[in-house]
Amino acid sequence: MRSLTVSLDQSCYSIHIGSGLYRLLPELLQKAGVGRDRKLMIITDSEVAPRYADRVKSCLDFAGYETGVSVFPAGESNKNLQQLERLIGECLQFGLDRSSLILALGGGVVGDVAGFVAATYMRGIPFIQLPTTLLAHDSSVGGKVGVNHPLGKNYIGSFHQPVMVVFDVDVLHTLPKREIVSGFAEVVKHALIWDVSFVKWLEENTEALLSLEPAKVEEAIYRGCRVKAAVVSQDEKESGIRAILNYGHTIGHALEAVSGYQYYTHGEAVAIGMAGAARLSQKVLGSSPELITRTEELLQAFQLPVRYDQAWLERDMLQAMKRDKKARRGEYAFVLSRSMGQVELIRGIEEVHVSQVLKEIGGGTG
Ligand SMILES: NC(=O)c1ccc[n+]([C@@H]2O[C@H](COP(=O)([O-])OP(=O)(O)OC[C@H]3O[C@@H](n4cnc5c(N)ncnc54)[C@H](O)[C@@H]3O)[C@@H](O)[C@H]2O)c1
Ligand SMILES: [Zn+2]
Repeated sequence: MRSLTVSLDQSCYSIHIGSGLYRLLPELLQKAGVGRDRKLMIITDSEVAPRYADRVKSCLDFAGYETGVSVFPAGESNKNLQQLERLIGECLQFGLDRSSLILALGGGVVGDVAGFVAATYMRGIPFIQLPTTLLAHDSSVGGKVGVNHPLGKNYIGSFHQPVMVVFDVDVLHTLPKREIVSGFAEVVKHALIWDVSFVKWLEENTEALLSLEPAKVEEAIYRGCRVKAAVVSQDEKESGIRAILNYGHTIGHALEAVSGYQYYTHGEAVAIGMAGAARLSQKVLGSSPELITRTEELLQAFQLPVRYDQAWLERDMLQAMKRDKKARRGEYAFVLSRSMGQVELIRGIEEVHVSQVLKEIGGGTG
């Protein structure tokens, strides 16, 4: 097991990554100060529940914790207020009180929804992240929780840090191939924004990572979490540097919104967004063309898309990008890259550049 610490102004928490960790959950809970007198509720989705909910629940039951399970339908389109209300109802019926904890067992969707239940239930109770997708190495760290609004991604939410993150890598083997690939988009993002040696390592280990070679996958998750933890530790509530974690997300979120959250996975949309951000970086900051080729080659080596389907209209994409949470007064704001490993938030970007980039990356699904 490898562990990391996220250090914040008021608190800190551990991230544990390794094999067979669910069996260690009772011990880790005790270490985190969660005694058996506290009720637990596992919130998970309809894909993860039949595979892992019993495994987690029985480890906790056996150790003497009273644990409930609450399930909502899988998929980004269920990351909404209706599910939130229903889940809160189930927590009330199970008798969770302010001393209880929620365990978010699943991918990024579960982490965001269950975390937001925890943030809002009785004005906030603690929660633990048990990520089950590769992508969730990102979403489970940093405390951003929330749900979508029909007008855009994550417009309803808050900051609510978990008390612990436990990533049992054994569960990745049941992930559909498309979700494995999707998860690598955020791994690549962490490398591109922070650490050129991590980019190089990913370039050299793509094959092993795609076939989920255990030691390599653990290393990738560890290095990705380390970047996330370093950034979040410096800026918990995104008043500055944390915005760089949005690299590729301005276009990515817009694509998800215009396609109704049904067409692209989050990782696919972000991969296309990073290809776009590299191109925009060249136009706005004069970064080298190598940034574009190396970014696209790495994403494609991970079998991720770098172009989007022209079915999605440029006009709708531009509208969605103006509503991006980083934008102010309807201007365009993007995280751009001066050189590989070095990114920053740039405001007031001219529409002509954004529109040109959309034309360049709007050439089909390749
Ligand atoms: N809060 C943050 O900081 C943050 C960061 C990045 C992404 N996100 C959010 O994360 C979400 C995307 O997360 P995701 O890609 O994990 O999607 P997801 O949670 O929808 O999981 C993808 C699919 O895989 C299934 N699944 C999960 N684990 C499985 C397993 N071990 N075996 C088999 N199937 C499994 C899920 O049921 C789902 O159908 C988006 O909503 C995005 O906005 C949040
Ligand atoms: Zn993301």
